[in-house]
Amino acid sequence: MDVLKAIAGRRSIRKFKDKPIPDEAIQAILTAAIQAPSGKNRQPWRFVVVTGDKCAEMVRIMREGIAEKEAREEDIGSTKGTARAMEEAPVTVFVFNQHGVAPWLEHSVDQTFKDVVNLQSIGAAIQNMALAAQGLGIGSLWICDVFCAYEELQEWLGEEGQMVAAMSFGYADESPGARPRKPIREVARWLSDNT
Ligand SMILES: Cc1cc2nc3c(=O)[nH]c(=O)nc-3n(C[C@H](O)[C@H](O)[C@H](O)COP(=O)(O)O)c2cc1C
Repeated sequence: MDVLKAIAGRRSIRKFKDKPIPDEAIQAILTAAIQAPSGKNRQPWRFVVVTGDKCAEMVRIMREGIAEKEAREEDIGSTKGTARAMEEAPVTVFVFNQHGVAPWLEHSVDQTFKDVVNLQSIGAAIQNMALAAQGLGIGSLWICDVFCAYEELQEWLGEEGQMVAAMSFGYADESPGARPRKPIREVARWLSDNT
């Protein structure tokens, strides 16, 4: 598939068919992820692939986190809808920054800069996964609402470092239109001699 076509056609998918994703497709998506560029070629990403019965456990932990937030009368935003989408998705991949530390721990300036570099690299890997999935006819949802159960999910996943995001994958059971984008003139500025 043409790259620009994949970029233009990708949507966040929140309704998935009850249909498994073949292992080869998951491998292809992870292969795309690890081909992303990374600062100093550090490849700071780590992935945990959740499938099968483990998905229900993952969603249960997520919902416990949401309930605790509700009990503390904190804003739960879109988390319930996200948990529903994760419940339908046959595969969710959690992405960690191996060199990162939890957001609430103290960061030196050096650590903050290193985090910025590593998080950009991880963002590239995540976008590669979304585009690879799109090329394979698989829908995806990039998820940060997993932060509502940050410590609980991290412990359950048994992964060190900083949890950056999750991405759910599955065959789309909806065809959402494109969400609006700010025009280029609003977000980009040219500096050139001839203006
Ligand atoms: C870093 C990041 C975090 C996101 N977290 C969530 C999330 O937790 N739940 C959700 O439903 N969508 C989430 N999204 C999807 C955005 O809502 C979506 O990308 C945006 O509305 C634009 O829509 P589109 O992806 O269909 O173009 C996230 C996207 C990004 C890039």
